[in-house]
Amino acid sequence: MRENSTKKLLSVLQGHISEIPPVWLMRQAGRYLPEYREIRSKVPSFLDLCYTPDLATEVTLQPIRRFGFDAAILFSDILVVPHGLGCHVAFQDGEGPVVQAITGEDDFAILQPERVTEHLVPVYEAVRNIRTALPESVTLIGFAGAPWTVATYMLEGKTSKQFQTAKKFAYQRPDLFQKLLDILVESTAQHLIFQAKAGAEVLQIFDSWAGVVPAPVFDAWIVAPTHAIVEKVQATVPGIPIIGFPKGVGLQFSRYAKQTGITAIGLDYTVPVSYPAEQLPQPFPVQGNLDPVQLLASKEGTIAGVRKIKQAWKDRPYILNLGHGILPSTPISHVETLIETVRNNHVG
Ligand code: CP3
Repeated sequence: MRENSTKKLLSVLQGHISEIPPVWLMRQAGRYLPEYREIRSKVPSFLDLCYTPDLATEVTLQPIRRFGFDAAILFSDILVVPHGLGCHVAFQDGEGPVVQAITGEDDFAILQPERVTEHLVPVYEAVRNIRTALPESVTLIGFAGAPWTVATYMLEGKTSKQFQTAKKFAYQRPDLFQKLLDILVESTAQHLIFQAKAGAEVLQIFDSWAGVVPAPVFDAWIVAPTHAIVEKVQATVPGIPIIGFPKGVGLQFSRYAKQTGITAIGLDYTVPVSYPAEQLPQPFPVQGNLDPVQLLASKEGTIAGVRKIKQAWKDRPYILNLGHGILPSTPISHVETLIETVRNNHVG
């Protein structure tokens, strides 16, 4: 296909090895950029940014203009799905998100799955605008949170460290927890399908809190819901590449990669770079996995870290990225160093 030949990210996701890998960074649009902070300061809330197509388009394009990444990721959030379902969602400065919590059976009356894609129309409009505005060589990534990760916010009501409330709910009310997962599978699949139809060329599923899920329920809480989403999306949008990012799952990575049906796997920074060679069939594409704190900490560390990944994964289709999102205090010059090191083949 004509288009794919000019898009490095799509080519790698089709299993081709690229001598100079495509590069983008999770959370690449955001607070480490002064131009983002300026726009953010002019709107009352973060959700206003997400639901104003012109602004969402602008902040999506900012890191592309500044750094020339190979992919743009839609500016949005994983919590727009619970918001679309009818939960109250607010982002308070310095405190992270606050979500109206589901505490028992009665609260399910709040959730209206049929409302999600209608509520998220401005997001799909942003996707269309971004796709039109992007240079031909840049791939547009749409995304959603995985059911487990989104469910933790819906059950805890906020960011958590131990996830005790969410896990307790899942153990005590397996019927209701399964009902919540089913609702999230359906609405997340629809949300991804609508993004793809609006112009997203690749989809990423963020399972940021998959690492706290106990082994005996890993299949039920993580693998099965993710697999169901992949099936639903690819039944409607055949062949669309889907990257899974199950953060912190250690030994479960290869099972997740093989059993969910995803196209490529995002590895977090705890995974040894030797891991794909030992655990994943060729040519399964991988993405990652420089520590965001190493990028923040020094240029030297960034150069050494990027060289190590390039060397380790040179015989496999791979996408250079971080092992989690870029941190707000990351110096811009370190990101420039990262890009230069990725693209300069004489330093590897
Ligand atoms: O990657 C991108 O640049 C696209 C935009 C994007 C955001 N959130 C914007 C955002 C993406 C892909 C996300 C995903 C997301 N959101 C995840 C999964 C990835 C991860 O980092 O683990 C999670 C868990 C969330 C939920 C969320 N949203 C939290 C916990 C917070 C508060 C903490 C924080 O990082 O700021 C948010 C808010 C948020 N989402 C901001 C941005 C730019 C900051 C809000 C602001 O600028 O006021």
